[in-house]
Amino acid sequence: APAVPAELTAALREARHVVVFTGAGVSAESGIRTFRDALTGLWSRFDAMALATPEAFRADPALVWGWYEWRRLRVRQAQPNPAHHAIADLARRLPRLTLVTQNVDDLHERAGSPADARPVLHLHGSLHQPRCFDCATPFTPPADAAAVADRDAPAGWRPQALDADGLRLPPPPCPACGGLIRPGVVWFGESLPAHALAAAFDAAEHCNLLLSVGTSGVVEPAASIPRLAARAGAWVVHVNPQPVAAGGARTRQLTGAAGELLPLFLAARVD
Ligand code: APR
Ligand code: ZN
Repeated sequence: APAVPAELTAALREARHVVVFTGAGVSAESGIRTFRDALTGLWSRFDAMALATPEAFRADPALVWGWYEWRRLRVRQAQPNPAHHAIADLARRLPRLTLVTQNVDDLHERAGSPADARPVLHLHGSLHQPRCFDCATPFTPPADAAAVADRDAPAGWRPQALDADGLRLPPPPCPACGGLIRPGVVWFGESLPAHALAAAFDAAEHCNLLLSVGTSGVVEPAASIPRLAARAGAWVVHVNPQPVAAGGARTRQLTGAAGELLPLFLAARVD
């Protein structure tokens, strides 16, 4: 098994406040596609500009709503993996853990995060918090709505085939104003939730160790979070099968899959 360097287990053992910062890679072993992995990434199969922008939604609400319902369905069928569980376990063994995710799935929550009263900070929103595009009223899908989107996308599903596969799905009307209900995710060109971002920046600047798990670190402002921690003198540990940008004097990488490495690394915190 890949060893975890002693200096990192020591740092984890002494840490009082750990930030865990996750990207799509933490859910990869749950069968949820990442965005930029070669061949399997969502952005190598789908056009982000046709699906993940407010203009795209205005232009074709059924295409965009259908695609996000398909992704929500895939998350519903997935299970948290050992990486999600190891993070939830770690939170129970630390005075403080701040969990910041770029993911819009609820696998951290379904694995039992957070252990304390602090919510998971979703910097890019969530598939589970649709709201009205016009009046921002939160929308709770009626039970039967899930049935409509509950058909799994056939293999090779492509947006242009959406009509043929009947997976084009008009968004429900807003019960408050009749406007269009939209996915509760942050699209390209939109600003991140200010509270979550401020809380994430504050935690990064005051933690002893930041674990950056499964992110390619190319989308700002989220990608600046590990740098903030490094600049504030914290240990920064990247967990990723691919090499990620090396950082400061106390920045390291555990190279491999999160589901394998995190349980090993976090075992160091068995008090
Ligand atoms: N364990 C750990 N890391 C993994 C695993 C795994 N099993 N499998 C893949 N990875 C790594 C990949 O090597 C890659 O570096 O996860 C990273 C996933 O990177 P992206 O697909 O770019 O996902 P992410 O960094 O979360 O994207 C950021 O981009 O499209 C936007 O809003 C979207 O939140 C997303 C943001
Ligand atoms: Zn409305």
